[in-house]
Amino acid sequence: MKTIIFYYTGTGNSLWTARLLAKEIGNTTLYPMSQMNNSVKIDADALGLIFPVHMWGVPNLVLQFFKKLQKSPNTYYFAFAVNAGQVSRTIIQLKKLMALSGMTLSTGFDIVLPSNYIPWGGPGPSEKLEKLYQTAREKIKQAAHYIIGKKIGPIEKGPLWQRILFTALYKMTFNMIPKMDRDFWVDEKCNGCAICEKVCPVGNIAMKMGKPAWLHHCEQCLACIQWCPQEALQLGKKTPKYERYRHPEIKMKDLIGRAKK
Ligand SMILES: Cc1cc2nc3c(=O)[nH]c(=O)nc-3n(C[C@H](O)[C@H](O)[C@H](O)COP(=O)(O)O)c2cc1C
Ligand code: SF4
Ligand code: SF4
Repeated sequence: MKTIIFYYTGTGNSLWTARLLAKEIGNTTLYPMSQMNNSVKIDADALGLIFPVHMWGVPNLVLQFFKKLQKSPNTYYFAFAVNAGQVSRTIIQLKKLMALSGMTLSTGFDIVLPSNYIPWGGPGPSEKLEKLYQTAREKIKQAAHYIIGKKIGPIEKGPLWQRILFTALYKMTFNMIPKMDRDFWVDEKCNGCAICEKVCPVGNIAMKMGKPAWLHHCEQCLACIQWCPQEALQLGKKTPKYERYRHPEIKMKDLIGRAKK
């Protein structure tokens, strides 16, 4: 079976999930969604979408990617929504969207990994993170059986209260995201290395006079703040005191050069 996975990631959790799954199912190629051009034609038996949950739903970058994806007859579709414990109705949203384009999402898994949403704090103690990685490893292995067998599996969702409350919040915040980069700033530790510019998946940072400037088409993936080697990049008032997060098995080089040329 030939499988293609399109992934989107800010801090590596989704890429790690994609790599682990690829190892389990074999004969799988991974592509970053952010690099895909106008029309994405696929030639595979199975196609997976793996991405983080942003603001309780499917991130804009995934929605934009999806518009380019051409329907492929006889392909088995699956998804993994990587999140920090509030998947809400993300996978249901994706399933409905795919149905509108004539594609059937056969299964969608909720994978809980550490939070990279630094405005709300750091990722937490290392024992807690290790537990999350271990639980996710086991779940990804189990999920792989569905995919290898091209079976119809669960469409996972958060509890009803999440789906009601957070769907409203998703709709309220969605259009604000591109300009939320107004809250980024750099402190005196910035040495102009331009790594923030290089890890941005959508080319939303330009170096000006040796410092990053944001261009207001942000996806809020938080790669820039989380990968800054000097921890010089800040978001709002509280981040100077919060610990950064990146998946320990994902390297900076894995994220560089993902933006379309
Ligand atoms: C802007 C933003 C919004 C987020 N919203 C949610 C959310 O609604 N629910 C949740 O469980 N996690 C949320 N998170 C946390 C991420 O989904 C989670 O940390 C994920 O594992 C990050 O994956 P990545 O490393 O592949 O980017 C959010 C993160 C960001 C940056
Ligand atoms: S990655 Fe950090 S240190 Fe490097 S230019 Fe960006 S903000 Fe400055
Ligand atoms: S500017 Fe930062 S948060 Fe916004 S898309 Fe680029 S890397 Fe992600």
